[in-house]
Amino acid sequence: MVKKGVILCGGLGTRFLPITKAVPKEMLPIIDRPVVDYIVDEAVNSGIKEILIIISPNKDCIKEYYQPNPELYQKLMESGKQDYARVIDQIPQKANVSFDVQYIPKGSGDALLIAQEFVSGEPFALMLGDDVMYNDQNPVVKQLISVYEKYQKTVLGVQRRTPPEIFRYGVIDILERLEPDVYDMKGILEKPSSVDDLTSDLATLGRYILTPEIFEILKKTPLGINNELQLTDGINLLAQQSGALAYVFEGRRYDMGNKLGSLEAITEYALRDQELGKAYKEYLTELLKNIQKVFFKTN
Ligand code: G1P
Repeated sequence: MVKKGVILCGGLGTRFLPITKAVPKEMLPIIDRPVVDYIVDEAVNSGIKEILIIISPNKDCIKEYYQPNPELYQKLMESGKQDYARVIDQIPQKANVSFDVQYIPKGSGDALLIAQEFVSGEPFALMLGDDVMYNDQNPVVKQLISVYEKYQKTVLGVQRRTPPEIFRYGVIDILERLEPDVYDMKGILEKPSSVDDLTSDLATLGRYILTPEIFEILKKTPLGINNELQLTDGINLLAQQSGALAYVFEGRRYDMGNKLGSLEAITEYALRDQELGKAYKEYLTELLKNIQKVFFKTN
């Protein structure tokens, strides 16, 4: 059973500057909740109640979001806003969320090493704080857990991508196709630079079920790109030593480290929203009719 989850919330959020000068990218909103909370919910809906979030030193507001706020709760109750009071009261209760800090940015592999004690020798889910997944029937982490339970091997969540987008991801080197959507892996290549380097069209998209061997492997993994300890290098060694699988998950993935990805998420979540959906759809329909005018006219 996979009971623990680790979310990596490092990174400077460069592509979202200047806002990320003061607000971590994982705290940017999709409507009224921060990005990280969608990832926590995916874990919780996959049966994971123990979550460790690794943050960098300037990201304390993520921690604050998961702490109770009795004063605010009290004020909302007193002013007749019980619904909001309930909403903020439920946030710290939905899971056991703890935090640790990566003080020096030495790579995603180095950040994951911080989680070794928390994981305590069990297989665990790793989620990258930039990637939000939507599947309201079967959460992506839950899909990966099912594959892990069947094969008892490390599982990487992948989807098919084409150039140039695929150059932004870790790409799977396939050993063998085991099922229509499950592949045995030879390895993984981080951000191939040209079509000639592409080993497949399977891109890793920020969801992993890892066996605890990853920690000993990371400790021996040479520093990679930017002279940092890269998670992908560790997973590549893990795949070579003990085997690993790539699983083509079902779901819509949003790249929240990217402005367009963020706009897509906000738009699509708003369209699905019970309260907002109808009005937002009407607004968008009207907007699209006049899209040329809206773009080019200032009044
Ligand atoms: C990271 C991983 C990469 C993966 C990607 C998915 O890259 O290193 O293998 O494909 O996340 O979002 P980053 O986006 O942090 O550069």
